[in-house]
Amino acid sequence: MRSLPRVRRRFVLLVAVVLAVVCGGAVTLAARRGPDGARRAHAAHTVTYDHYSLKLDGNRVYLWSAEFHYWRLPSPDLWRDVLEKFKAAGYNATSIYFDWAYHSPKQGVYDFTGVRDIERLLTIAQQVGIYVIARPGPYINAETDSGGFPGWLTTQKGRARSSAPDYTQAYREWLRHVDPIIAKHQYTDGTGPVILYQIENEYGTHTDKAYMKDLKKQVRADGIDVPFTHNHCCGASKWATGGGSVDLPGQDSYPQKFNCSTPDRWNGLATLPRFRDDAPIFTPEFQGGAYDPWGGPGYDKCRTLTGPDFEKVFYKHNLATGVTMQNFYMTYGGTSWGWLADPSHVYTSYDYGSAIKEDRELTPKYDEAKRLGYLTQAVAPLTKTDPVSAGKPTNADVTLTARANPDDGTRFSVLRHRDATSTTTETTHVPIDLTAGRQGGAAVSYPSVPQEPGTKIKLAGRDAKLLVAGYHLGSQQLRYSTSEIMTHGRIGDRDVALLYGRRGEDGETVLHYDAAPSVTVLSGKVRHVWNAGRGDLRLNYTHQGLARVLVTPRGGVPVLLLLATDQEAARFWRQDTAAGPVLVRGPELLRSAAVQGPALALTGDTSAVTGLEVFAATSVRTVTWNGAPVRTTGDDTLTGRLAGPRRVTVPALTGWKVRAESPEARPGFDDHGWTVANRTTTNNPTRPATAPVLYADDYGFHYGDVWYRAHFTAKGGETGVTLTAGTGKAGVYSVWLNGKFLGSSGDGRHTFAFPARAAAKGRDNVLSVLVENMGHNEDFDATDTHKEPRGLTGAKLRGSAAPLTWRIQGGEGGEELPDPARGPFNTGGLYGERNGWHLPGGADAGWTATTLPRRDTRPGVSWYKTTFDLNLPKDQDVPLGVTFTDDHSRHYRALLFVNGWQLGRYVNDVGPQRSFPIPPGILRANGRNTLAIAVWNEDGKTGGLGQVALRQYADLATSLRVADVTTPR
Ligand code: GAL
Repeated sequence: MRSLPRVRRRFVLLVAVVLAVVCGGAVTLAARRGPDGARRAHAAHTVTYDHYSLKLDGNRVYLWSAEFHYWRLPSPDLWRDVLEKFKAAGYNATSIYFDWAYHSPKQGVYDFTGVRDIERLLTIAQQVGIYVIARPGPYINAETDSGGFPGWLTTQKGRARSSAPDYTQAYREWLRHVDPIIAKHQYTDGTGPVILYQIENEYGTHTDKAYMKDLKKQVRADGIDVPFTHNHCCGASKWATGGGSVDLPGQDSYPQKFNCSTPDRWNGLATLPRFRDDAPIFTPEFQGGAYDPWGGPGYDKCRTLTGPDFEKVFYKHNLATGVTMQNFYMTYGGTSWGWLADPSHVYTSYDYGSAIKEDRELTPKYDEAKRLGYLTQAVAPLTKTDPVSAGKPTNADVTLTARANPDDGTRFSVLRHRDATSTTTETTHVPIDLTAGRQGGAAVSYPSVPQEPGTKIKLAGRDAKLLVAGYHLGSQQLRYSTSEIMTHGRIGDRDVALLYGRRGEDGETVLHYDAAPSVTVLSGKVRHVWNAGRGDLRLNYTHQGLARVLVTPRGGVPVLLLLATDQEAARFWRQDTAAGPVLVRGPELLRSAAVQGPALALTGDTSAVTGLEVFAATSVRTVTWNGAPVRTTGDDTLTGRLAGPRRVTVPALTGWKVRAESPEARPGFDDHGWTVANRTTTNNPTRPATAPVLYADDYGFHYGDVWYRAHFTAKGGETGVTLTAGTGKAGVYSVWLNGKFLGSSGDGRHTFAFPARAAAKGRDNVLSVLVENMGHNEDFDATDTHKEPRGLTGAKLRGSAAPLTWRIQGGEGGEELPDPARGPFNTGGLYGERNGWHLPGGADAGWTATTLPRRDTRPGVSWYKTTFDLNLPKDQDVPLGVTFTDDHSRHYRALLFVNGWQLGRYVNDVGPQRSFPIPPGILRANGRNTLAIAVWNEDGKTGGLGQVALRQYADLATSLRVADVTTPR
């Protein structure tokens, strides 16, 4: 996407003004309302579609989109980093969920500032030049708490995702807040990147048509003009036709599913459905990785399950079956920081095994996505194809599927194993039939490709190839190539085409000319034969490194063919400038390119000293890299060297102090300020096991740990207490009687025996219970599963009918946030959290100096704190994290706060996450940082804290600049 045309918009406005004057106000400048009441902006730009593809201003686009969740990256300058990385890989769009809960701690209260500033997010997208698919729910799923529903919504009576009046009032409130911000950034108005808007999310079961209709009506009334989409997953309702249907229905698909513990086990291919004949095949979520649960195998395994081989086979299958709109979920996953995670599916990291890691490093999956993404953006005929017969490969174990563009005959064939999961290496010849093509009327067919004797097409296990034939490659006529096209463009006075294949495999490329062209092999080994009868120039080679061939047709435009291995191809970057495309070879990342006269300004990242080669218009004579001049030589391409980052070292973490808390467990603790928990009724569909209702949400405590204290006058026969707690998966709760530790349990019911004489007869006794709320479930099926109660759900003394009178205390202020900047998910109800121990600064009287590892047999919670200084080079991106090392049989868990932000939940005996990336911006790259760790000793025996260290994941010299996130102390 070029920057959205302002000049043109001004022109349209000018014409409108003139018309308004001439026609006596027949055309007004203000937004108008259509017959359905929807606001219609002056049609500065259009987003339309037909059977084949999406169209912007009437031009077909291949939608190649990457999913991103800003709320999983609480450092706005890093939004730019991620979006630039998407753009650099050839994604022309990003799909974004907006998380209602993240913005609304309380009914009627909304926050769109600081790390919640979506206005800034959409502005960055616009500046980067990437379109946006907006997905504000109201329900989003996304492995986040309540699937994006705010905590306060869990106490509603009406079923969520239905027309229930209380739910209706609530979601209208959310839409009325979020929609106007999105509406200000629509492509249609010429003011922004938003091209599509999704209504609801995978709404297929227990559906309510009136609800869908009302959503659409509300969103239009809020000023959204772009087409509506929906992502079908399962169930009967696809919202493709009939009441409540959307403009662009699509199908989500996760063919590998989510079991990362068997990363080499592949499932077969699934072909995406076409829901309507007048709309293209669209996958709003195609698998880009997988989530990993508490105790799971870890994200490296997920990255293998959905690795470059998977991308090759499955994404190309989508291309082979005519899909022209693909969004990949996730392309950058991020961090479910604070209590954002949905406990049934994920822990803190939402790395997702994506193309870009949680710490923002690029992976080999990124390279493959880029090779394909570049193709989708460079080879325009791909946006309009019909299936055609492909012919048979000579090897029966491989399959060929073909499509052709009905206008220009360009043919796309995808070659893969008949059994897509096969790991065998096959060789084959394939027919390529261009007789139906309209290339200058030439009807040619090649019954057996490759033609060069002794060569063949090789297809390794779990590989697929997309072969383009009969294509106007710039000014050349490509008959076919057994190498794949990554990109091509007119650069200066010649075409440049980048083709690639697996290292060591044969490649054959045939170009058609009226007369023999001159051929110069500039580097590598390339054979060439001219077939005068056919007018075919055939090039044969083995993919090794990078070969270069210059073909100069008589009187025509020359073409520089770059014949690369996959790896070499990935070292190329393309950026489109006002002076045409620029190809850059070498750096780790090319973020931007701008041409001004003879000067080319490049920005990007390097991880080491790197060679630079620039393919640009002949007028370009000088190059800068991140603002500094690069000494270049050569006048064909410009070559030079780029510096790498300086080595940085991170400090060791020392100077620890420790302080025990959990005074709530002591009998004399003053709990009179706590909320009395005496409700006898609840809206919750789950009835409490005993009275009163103790559900934390019913008392306004939605996130994190919750304390309960029950007083009772013992009758003498008390032998114990049976408690039932809803913690969510992998959660825990601990119990004390009169300050004596009774033990801990996981989610569910447990009886805690009282030691003899622990309950004092006739006197006031106090039960103290600390319950972890791991988060609320999702509401995937629209059956209110997010309302599963959290906190205590039942309590009964054994051997006594003495009544228990309860008080509850969760996060300070409940729904009234004391710290709106860090927001509702940052803290829960631990004593230290309520008293600001997680924050930087603060007195440390009462803290004791200690070293790590440290063993501790005190049950309950203790805090560890230290500070460290960083002084990282301003022009380097050094992703850092905090790593825990300990014996995993020890039963404790920890909350990790960096500068007051809770960026990790570490469970020593569950895992799998041991290393927690801390986003720059939260981490002060030049200054003092405070680390605070709240450790919950679960068994009163194996507590304490293991080794804690800073870990450096990468080091890059960069143009990226990250400001510190403004944070109250
Ligand atoms: C889809 C859903 C997404 C996410 C994904 C799995 O069903 O729409 O929000 O949950 O599955 O990661």
